[in-house]
Amino acid sequence: MSLLSAELQQKILDYLPRYPSKQAATLPALHLVQDEMRCVPLEAVREIAGLLDLCPAELNDAMSFYGFFRDEKHPLGKTRLWVCRSLACALRGGEELLTTLCQKLSVRPGGTTADGTITLEFAECIGVCEGAPAVLINDEGRPDVTPDKVDSLIEELRTRPPVLHPTLATPPPRAGSLSAVNPL
Ligand code: FES
Repeated sequence: MSLLSAELQQKILDYLPRYPSKQAATLPALHLVQDEMRCVPLEAVREIAGLLDLCPAELNDAMSFYGFFRDEKHPLGKTRLWVCRSLACALRGGEELLTTLCQKLSVRPGGTTADGTITLEFAECIGVCEGAPAVLINDEGRPDVTPDKVDSLIEELRTRPPVLHPTLATPPPRAGSLSAVNPL
């Protein structure tokens, strides 16, 4: 029995006509699987490789190159919360914001809360510089997140339903992804 559902396999296969080779769909496939499973388990690596006519080692190389992807030992929480630590945000309290979030969530950057709701990470500029300090909530930029707004932000993230990446609804071509420093 496959780890990847028939629906998820089909979503991956639906990407193939958009690319010149099956291999070129590697990143979209990894994104689709991680969006749905909150990580890319080893068995999923094998199954994706099978769909794309790749060796599992090739798929694993691509996955491990990007700190964005998580293995089954380090799954994401329901929401992935990125705190920008680039210049504009740093000058307006980004480090303090990250420290406050670490304390309130009892996690270090890269960690997931005990209840599995929030994975906290830091990122380089997320494109919301005019609203520094800013965070990224999954794929949604949120400006002006000062430390005094942390409690309400955490409450919001803990109570809202899971938000899957838009690729699961209408898969667009996806050439790259947010670059991340793998903190693990
Ligand atoms: S520096 Fe923080 S969003 Fe650009």
